[in-house]
Amino acid sequence: MEPRAQPVHPPAGLGGDPRVEVELGCADGQFSFQLARACPERFVVGLEIRDKVVAQNQARARAEGPRNLAFAYVNLNVDLDRVFAPRSVDAFHLLFPDPWFKAKHHKRRVIDPWMLEVICQQLRPGGELHLASDVYEVALEAMAEIEDPSAEPLGLRNLAGPWGFWRGNPFPAQSRREDTTLARGQRVWRVRYGLGAAAGSTPSSASTVGR
Ligand SMILES: C[S@@+](CC[C@H](N)C(=O)[O-])C[C@H]1O[C@@H](n2cnc3c(N)ncnc32)[C@H](O)[C@@H]1O
Repeated sequence: MEPRAQPVHPPAGLGGDPRVEVELGCADGQFSFQLARACPERFVVGLEIRDKVVAQNQARARAEGPRNLAFAYVNLNVDLDRVFAPRSVDAFHLLFPDPWFKAKHHKRRVIDPWMLEVICQQLRPGGELHLASDVYEVALEAMAEIEDPSAEPLGLRNLAGPWGFWRGNPFPAQSRREDTTLARGQRVWRVRYGLGAAAGSTPSSASTVGR
């Protein structure tokens, strides 16, 4: 539980202030690899708690590219605040987070208030928080956290309208878990929030490349 995540910076080749997109809990990084390849002008970062998986992803990115992609360690509930400066991230993607079903884990939430505050501090105005899950209760629990009146000052607005799910995948990338969910004929429960954007609209800098 000791904070040990390190700051991550874009490579020089992308210019001074590229669009920054972050996958939280990226596992093998399939979404991050696809997004970085589809959008070479963006800086894509995959963050993961398992050091061995981080090292594997880093080695693969070094060997295969693309150059606009980086992987690093984070424990989302402990040290995400150390990775990015305030107002420096354009989109966070939290895809198929581990659900916590056991009674002893009931206090563990997919998005806890501290993490939500850090995400909102690090997002640029008009930035996006994108969450998807194959477990309805997980998506609903995240919505309950984000759409609770106490979280209103953070400035996140559901882009599908209050308590609305987003249909389809508007991103030019798909995670491994989304592949398996769709292959099983199961539904993906997707929610998208814009920081400071009006409900029902798309944030100015959001990824809305159609599939
Ligand atoms: C179910 S997998 C989903 C992987 C990928 N996003 C996908 O959609 O295919 C969840 C991932 O989150 C990681 N994870 C779990 N808790 C985490 C935490 N506190 N901080 C960072 N990553 C975490 C796990 O190690 C795992 O790789």
